[in-house]
Amino acid sequence: MKKGEIDVLFTQEQIQKRVAELARQMDDDFMGRELIVVGVLKGAFIFMSDLVRNIKIPLACDFLRVASYEHDKNTGVIRMEFDTTQPITGKDVLLVEDIVDSGRTLRHILKHMETKEPRSIKVASLLYKETGAGVKKLVDYIGFETPNKYVIGYGLDSEGIYRSLPYIGAFK
Ligand code: IMP
Ligand code: MG
Repeated sequence: MKKGEIDVLFTQEQIQKRVAELARQMDDDFMGRELIVVGVLKGAFIFMSDLVRNIKIPLACDFLRVASYEHDKNTGVIRMEFDTTQPITGKDVLLVEDIVDSGRTLRHILKHMETKEPRSIKVASLLYKETGAGVKKLVDYIGFETPNKYVIGYGLDSEGIYRSLPYIGAFK
């Protein structure tokens, strides 16, 4: 597939401002809690790194990675490639995602995380795609809502590339 030019949907400045706003809200919401921020690799790594540097309360970081079989995205199996490494039982978990589309990935991760019996689980997603899947209630903190287009940049890839763009865009 030949890639054309990229339309900028959210600029670096807009993203930084929104990340700071979310962090302020998290400082309030998690005050006095034992916060563990769990990033879903790879897509969330840039959002998470900016987010945790804006959050002022103490926190621990951890990561997990899931893979879904590309050839059958809607019905295929989601599999845990690797899991968090520290105990989260009784802790307050903030799960950080790049984008929630159908919500299948998120549901799978939440089900898995719940077996570890954390005190609470909240979800922050940089982007929420309004596709009518009706999974908005699963996401506690949304950076931006995006149209139903394939988006790239600020952690999000297309065939492994474009994660390093400082803005979020869509192919023209
Ligand atoms: P879901 O399971 O349908 O909610 O899809 C979520 C996952 O698919 C995300 O964590 C991304 O890895 C990937 N994804 C969905 N939409 C996009 C997109 O527009 N750009 C890049 N990755 C996407
Ligand atoms: Mg992802």
